[in-house]
Amino acid sequence: MTTSTPANPPLNLFEYQRLAKARMAPQAYDYYAAGAMDEITLEANHRSYDEIFLRPRVLAGVGDVDTRTTVLGFEMTMPVIVAPSAFHGLATPLAERATAGAAAKAGVIYCMSTMANTRMEDVATVGPGTRWFQLYVFKDRGVTLSLVERAEASGFSALELTVDTPRVGKREVDERNHFALPEGLEALNLKASHHSEVRDVGDGSGLVAYFAHLMDDNLTWADVEWLRSITTLPIVIKGIGRGDDARHAVASGAAAVVVSNHGGRQLDTARPTIRALPEVVQAVGGEVPILCDGGIRRGTDILKALALGASAVQVGRPVLWGLAVDGEAGAARVLDLLRAEFELAMALCGCRTIAAITGDLIG
Ligand code: GLV
Repeated sequence: MTTSTPANPPLNLFEYQRLAKARMAPQAYDYYAAGAMDEITLEANHRSYDEIFLRPRVLAGVGDVDTRTTVLGFEMTMPVIVAPSAFHGLATPLAERATAGAAAKAGVIYCMSTMANTRMEDVATVGPGTRWFQLYVFKDRGVTLSLVERAEASGFSALELTVDTPRVGKREVDERNHFALPEGLEALNLKASHHSEVRDVGDGSGLVAYFAHLMDDNLTWADVEWLRSITTLPIVIKGIGRGDDARHAVASGAAAVVVSNHGGRQLDTARPTIRALPEVVQAVGGEVPILCDGGIRRGTDILKALALGASAVQVGRPVLWGLAVDGEAGAARVLDLLRAEFELAMALCGCRTIAAITGDLIG
């Protein structure tokens, strides 16, 4: 892994991915890039945005486009959240501290993964910035309880519970590579619980073995209520793909839901998130904000998700490509590129404010 500012920085998120691939250790790149099985969902997540066409408004007086918005009362400079993703130490030596720094600079929320290479207390020292903590529930509830208490004490302002991972999806590159964390990297939030090592188990993916051994594969909506009972933080439920589950989430006290198929890494052939979004929006009926992730690579993708009812999107892999290319500066530039593209898309669609992004913009 080498990072340095490229002489001709990438012009878009796809170019960041190509450059990251050239720079990263193959096993690490493969882990980030992988989708489950035939990668049908992975590919369809983005392609589905390409299949949606826009109905731009003209002469709407867009001189001063304002991309700012709020989600759950948290202000953001644009409707983008850095999605939780694991092991940023595979991309850059400063790991999640670099991500937190980039998100803070960009004025967007960073949702840090349970499976981080940095302790949450150390991310908290990066400086101001709104941070959420993504949660996996361990069989040993004491481990989860302690993660929640530490997140509260470290200034994280929401918990994002991932609900689509009773088991890790079949990611064949990781099986072939015997994915494991290299020497020197651990899942540091789990150090105190002695669960920080994701090691080569000699057969298949070390992450699959880790989850099978330690994570609770038997969660139900009652566990969401348990989580509500142990924290005052808002709970965001990530991994919703249908309207009835979104209703369950709201009934269980979710403050927001994320329409997500885990970036195509879990159930292959699960429908693309932008296709699932309208059903969820209809079911939720405005009771809680809806976020959407998977395949967002262009500013127009953000605009389409908002036009279809999302309050904001989450962006995962592109931030990792930015980290791999140029650490914190690379991730910040990825977010800046997205902002510039989104602002341009708003201007060209006749939207001066986020409120002007409405369903009639979809063709
Ligand atoms: C972890 O959540 C992963 O998708 O690898």
